[in-house]
Formats: sequence, structure tokens, C-alpha cells
Amino acid sequence: MGESVLTDAGIERVGDSLHFGGVPLSAIADGAGTPAYVYSADVIRRRYRALDDALSAAPHRIAYAVKANSNLAVLRILRDLGAGADIVSGGELARALAAGFEPERIVFSGVGKTDEELTAAVEAGIGHVHLESTAELAALGRIVARLGRPLRVGIRVNPDVTADTHPFIATGQGGIKFGVPVDQVVPLALAIGEHPLLALDTIAMHIGSQLLDPEPYAEGIGRLLDLVGRLCEAGVETIRSLDVGGGIGIRYRDEEPMSPAALASTIIPLVRRSGLTVVMEPGRYLVGSAGVLLTTVLSRKHSGGKDLVIVDAGMNDLVRPSHYMAYHEMVEVELRGRPGAEVDVVGPVCETGDFLARDRRLPGLDRGERIAVLGAGAYGFVMASNYNTRPRPAEVVVDGGRWWVSRPRERLDQLFHTERVAP
Ligand code: LLP
Repeated sequence: MGESVLTDAGIERVGDSLHFGGVPLSAIADGAGTPAYVYSADVIRRRYRALDDALSAAPHRIAYAVKANSNLAVLRILRDLGAGADIVSGGELARALAAGFEPERIVFSGVGKTDEELTAAVEAGIGHVHLESTAELAALGRIVARLGRPLRVGIRVNPDVTADTHPFIATGQGGIKFGVPVDQVVPLALAIGEHPLLALDTIAMHIGSQLLDPEPYAEGIGRLLDLVGRLCEAGVETIRSLDVGGGIGIRYRDEEPMSPAALASTIIPLVRRSGLTVVMEPGRYLVGSAGVLLTTVLSRKHSGGKDLVIVDAGMNDLVRPSHYMAYHEMVEVELRGRPGAEVDVVGPVCETGDFLARDRRLPGLDRGERIAVLGAGAYGFVMASNYNTRPRPAEVVVDGGRWWVSRPRERLDQLFHTERVAP
């Protein structure tokens, strides 16, 4: 296992025990139970500052992609660091406001927005809405006219750049639902210009997630800057920012993701000449390595030549392995010095696809022993479901050597108390 995955997460082995943010993970598992997500405030801060510093050579804004981890304590940490918020739903708007983000610093992206969501965003006075279509422009135009509120908007462009990542999270190529195709941008911009309350301020892209290399950003930015030039020729001179999206990858295993400095040295020279402000919408980079999922072994089986370890966290708690075949490092919380063997780590959910790891070398763990699943801070809890009527896990924050439960594990009665057996 890459020790660096542990280092990125600020995890240390002290004696036989795994410590996260200075706290033994066993103590958290004893106190909060498992499965539980644990987030390190220090790691989030360290990563935010690294990116912010790297971008400091240019006017820039960082809008945290709330979808990656929308726990209010995590949002508050990022707000306190000076981040804005990138949201994609009315629910994320409500969370961002509840966490105290200034509305002005909220950007509403997202491929489909309802009238209710757009109205809530305009009423809240958010900074930007990124448009994805003419139909959305028409809807937003009616809403701002009715409310009499001016609004800055952006256009999310599909720059037709192919990024080297899992096909489910590549979002910049043609033929998919995201963004406005390049040839439709100028007409959309001219239509925005006709609305007295809307001003086109940003050209945006998001080409994909878990990107390890700056090259696709350079390619995408080239296309966006071309477009800004064409917009100028068409008389659109209100563009102030270039939003290059999120997507910065992290190390789950032995990847060598680009450093913030390497990314900045690609982006900044390209954008600087244009005089535009750089906006980034990172999610995973800020919180992915900052979270672990704690799980407890329930039993072991040997079947068809395979060793299986059944744990108390399943695909409903962390769907990334079964949904994307994603790799998450696993570490025993207490070392017991036993030899390792190749095992599949599987959950209790009634699906053969319910696994957290396949063919993983782990020591022989008995019922009651704990495993930390690393790299679980992004797209972990937020993608959890109640499948099999399983309550979603607790969420714990570690900060300055102390820990506390930010969100308790769901109680069973919360899962069905609104259901009625008859009219
Ligand atoms: N901005 C927009 C418009 C996005 O669609 C996304 C992610 C981001 C920013 C943040 O991307 P990040 O920096 O986190 O890569 N569930 C998948 C990832 C889906 C990403 C969706 N969009 C996973 O578990 O890998």
C-alpha cells in the first residue's frame, strides 16, 4: 500500500493504533459506532490553502463543489477559509445558506434546474447562475423579471475535450448532457444580452473529475478563450471570469496527481493575458483525502476458492467501489501482526455487487475488528442511500486533536416515519 495515501490523509500509526488528526480511530469507533465517516478539519484546511496559494499569482476565486461532501461542519470549515460554494440543487443551496456562505459567493451550476430552484436562488441573492440551455435562460429571465432582481450569469460550455478518467465522470466531451456546445454559445450570449436584468459575466467548463494531469485544462481553456474572443467580436464585452471547473484528482492508491502548483502554472499564464478572474470549483481535491469510513468486521467466509470478509458498511454507505470499480485503500485500525491474505471485502447488502474491495491483501480479521477505508471524504456519505432500510452512517469531525459527531447515525424510525399504510 502506498504510505503516501496515509500521509495525504494525515493518518499515522502510533504503536499499533491508527490515528487520524491526532485521535485514535478506535476511540471514535467506540464512541460513535460504525459505519462512520470521519473527516479531518486540518487536512481540509491544508489542501484549501495549498490550492489558494498556488492560484495567488492571479485574481481567483475558489467555489467549493458542495456535492462532494455537503456536511454542514465541512461547509463551515471551507466558508471560514474564504471559499465560495458551487451548488447544483435547491437542497445544496439550502445547505450552503445554512452553513453561512454569503449568497453573493454562491454559484448555481447543474444541468437541469427547476423554476422552484431558480426562484429560491434568485430570492436568496446568489452571485451567479450558470446557464445550460436557452430553455433555462427563458425560465430564469421570467423569474428575475417577476422578482425585479438583476443577476450575473455564466454559460457552462461543453468544450468537447476528452479527459482521461472513468467514463461516468468525464463531462467535457460532445454527445453528453453537460454544457452548451461551442457553436451554440454566441447565440445564447446574445439572447442573454437582450434581457435587461441579466448580465453575462462568466464562461465556464467542467471537463471531468479525478483528473491527474493539467493538459485537458489547457485544452479546454484554449477553447473557452477562443470563445471569449468570438463573443467580443459579436459585441459581448461583459465577461469578467473564466470558470475552469473542478476535477483535480487525488491519490487513492499510487496515482501521481498534479500538484496545485503544476495546475496553476498551466492555467495562470493562459488566463492572465485575458485579464479574466480564474474561478475553480474543486470538490474531491479539498475533501477526498480528508475522510475515512470506519467499518467493523462481521464475519469471514471461504467460498469457491475465495476468502470473503463481511463488514458492516455496504454499497449503500460507500457506492464508489461497486459503481465505478473505484479503489479505496483499506487499513486495519489496530495492528495485530497476523499474516495477510487476498480477500474480497463485502458489505451486508443483498447484492453480489456489494463490495468495498476485491482481491485485497488484508490480515485475517475477526468479528469486531475495525477497518479504515481511506479516501472516503468525497462522494462518500453524499452518495449513501437507505437501501435495505439501512440508516446512513454517522459523520464525525476531528479538529485540533478533538472529535465530535456532526451528524448522528440515522435512527430506524426516521427512515419510515412519514410513510402511511393507507390514505
Ligand atoms: N463542478 C461541476 C460543474 C461538477 O459537475 C463537479 C463534479 C465539480 C465541479 C467537482 O468535481 P471534483 O473537483 O470533485 O472532481 N461521484 C463521482 C464524481 C462525480 C463528479 C460530478 N461533478 C465520484 O465518486 O468519483
